[in-house]
Amino acid sequence: MKWSAPLSTRAAEAIPSPALVIDLAAITDNLDQMIATSGDINRLRPHCKTHKMLELSKLEVQRGITRHKAATFAEAEMVARAGATDVVLAYPVVGPNLRRAAEFRHRFPQTRLTVLADDHAAIEAMGEITSTAGITLDVLLDLNVGMDRTGIDPTLPEAFSLYERLSKTPGLTAAGLHVYDGHLHQTSVDERVAAVRDVWVKVSSFRDRLVAAGMAVPRIICGGTGTFGPWSRIEDASIELSPGTCVLHDWGYALKFPEMDYQAGAYVLSRVISRPTPTRVTLDMGHKAVSPDQALGQRVWLPEIEGGKQVLQSEEHLVVESNNRDSFRVGDVVWGIPRHVCTTVPLYPFAYVAKNGEVVDRWEISARNRQWTI
Ligand SMILES: Cc1ncc(COP(=O)(O)O)c(C=O)c1O
Repeated sequence: MKWSAPLSTRAAEAIPSPALVIDLAAITDNLDQMIATSGDINRLRPHCKTHKMLELSKLEVQRGITRHKAATFAEAEMVARAGATDVVLAYPVVGPNLRRAAEFRHRFPQTRLTVLADDHAAIEAMGEITSTAGITLDVLLDLNVGMDRTGIDPTLPEAFSLYERLSKTPGLTAAGLHVYDGHLHQTSVDERVAAVRDVWVKVSSFRDRLVAAGMAVPRIICGGTGTFGPWSRIEDASIELSPGTCVLHDWGYALKFPEMDYQAGAYVLSRVISRPTPTRVTLDMGHKAVSPDQALGQRVWLPEIEGGKQVLQSEEHLVVESNNRDSFRVGDVVWGIPRHVCTTVPLYPFAYVAKNGEVVDRWEISARNRQWTI
């Protein structure tokens, strides 16, 4: 993966560590590449959960991306504030969150909100809330195409009856299908393309049956960073593409998808805080500075400590075994590229924005919490 220290040595020295630093040039490049891969900006619906930054959503809107995807109400609120006219909250909305959908509609009337459902009782509850609130809500049927996380298998009869129910429930509009395929991680592009085609055979035949029965299926929202390229090659006017990670990109996806040319857009700036043994350097890059949702040793790439083995991590410490221990001094800055950027970003209240080696701004992680004002 392409990386280069986003700040000059002098600029980095002024920043208390650990810190999140984003590289504006890399992000701009990644955005352009994402738009180019989609083939048509109007098909793009990037997922903002990766960055959760209002300012970055504004950049996307400025580039002409009007459709967005979110996982929480705070993220949906963020893209609405950024000027998005259309947001899909790609998460099953249940319990008291249903009322928040109605509140969102009142608070952000200029932003069309669409939610997901995959359950009869949830659809009924949604219909009750929307009828009471005097609104209509667009709802996508969430399809399970192999990830087995949420959704209904489109080959099951229940998928048809769920969509039919969405179509018939007062206060709801059946707005299409949601197809997230986060299980497709084939390193070979040809194999990934073939896997997407297999998914499409199932999804399109389900769509065709719905349409033949007189129901509208205006949109089918597909894919993430690994698959939106293959999805973009399928010619069907209803397909929208929903990559998230590639805007910041991370070490994990660089390993999984080596054909991609996205650059590291987010870094953790850390320092050597101790050299406790002749072969160890300890950094201030603990679980609270870089996401610990991967195995020890796999959580962050430290390109400057070549051959270093991460042997111990606690809340605020990362211990690296290295033959080069003597080339590091306590206080030295060490850059890390997270394995999983989406879960690293919300560990910070803001990111330093780097341009031409200098800090030019600070961007809040606006949707860091699940609740903003709604
Ligand atoms: C529902 C949904 N859509 C889109 C994405 C974006 O995928 P990626 O992070 O691979 O770009 C995700 C990622 O978790 C997701 O959960």
